[in-house]
Amino acid sequence: MIGKEAVLAGITGPMKRYHEHMLRDLKDWQPLEDAAQLLLEGRPIVYEDYVPDFRPLIKMMQVIVEKAGGSGWDWADPEIRRIFKEVAEGNIYTMFSEIIVEMLISIMKRVPVRTVVEVGTGPGNVTANLCRAMVENHFEDITVVISDRVPSVVQVSEGLREMYPSLRISDCTWNVCESAPAQLREKLVSPVLLFERFCLPYTGYDAIDNIAPLGDILILVDDLSLTGEKYNYDRIYAKIGRFLVFEEAKKRLEKYCSFIHACDREASEAVHSPVITFTLAVK
Ligand SMILES: C[S@@+](CC[C@H](N)C(=O)[O-])C[C@H]1O[C@@H](n2cnc3c(N)ncnc32)[C@H](O)[C@@H]1O
Repeated sequence: MIGKEAVLAGITGPMKRYHEHMLRDLKDWQPLEDAAQLLLEGRPIVYEDYVPDFRPLIKMMQVIVEKAGGSGWDWADPEIRRIFKEVAEGNIYTMFSEIIVEMLISIMKRVPVRTVVEVGTGPGNVTANLCRAMVENHFEDITVVISDRVPSVVQVSEGLREMYPSLRISDCTWNVCESAPAQLREKLVSPVLLFERFCLPYTGYDAIDNIAPLGDILILVDDLSLTGEKYNYDRIYAKIGRFLVFEEAKKRLEKYCSFIHACDREASEAVHSPVITFTLAVK
């Protein structure tokens, strides 16, 4: 049984830093929503009118409106890849990545985690930062298991093993809309810390029934609506993924976890955002 107090203590520092960053650099989420409205109305965007942190996010919305309505959405499209790379390297995504790693390391310092599992690893940017931090903090005895629906997770894993030879890193090709393969389950030693970033919008809530039973502690990093109301921003993202509501995700998680927490609720309220991004669940 994992003590929820220890886990909560682990996320307090990273969430404080996140809250400070949001208030200092973004202040208000409304301009992003206003930009989404202009894009949906087909009106021009003057990028200089927005704080620099928002600009890659607005470019991303612009490309979704242009591409998803026309030739369709394809993550392999060079323009989409270029703009997504800009978004991923922008301050907001970089901060998300740093905060996830801080949360995971801080939990590892307080709970005797034996396995850390990532779902929907993608190109492995967050994973590489995590591996570096695990080595710096001498967590070589914790096994790392990465997974994704796409088989290229094998190459990502090979690259990480080369970069961090002192860590035990393995991989599994897993579509989380199906139950976890035995090949993955047999790698897990409790307590298991499981995390994912920006995967659930492509799978929907049902994936929670496959993901949640595996972890003793879960960190889900996805925009989940607190109000259930769709905003312009959501209407744009609904063209390529699903609109997810915190209360519905919480109901699914409650089947497996005794404690579910919207970690950044206060930060979201402070910048008038209707979504939270960091959800914690403890078995
Ligand atoms: C937006 S990317 C995020 C990648 C990475 N987590 C990050 O934050 O940089 C979404 C990832 O989810 C993966 N994904 C989508 N549907 C999936 C599914 N059904 N099962 C497992 N992974 C899936 C995609 O292959 C992709 O790597």
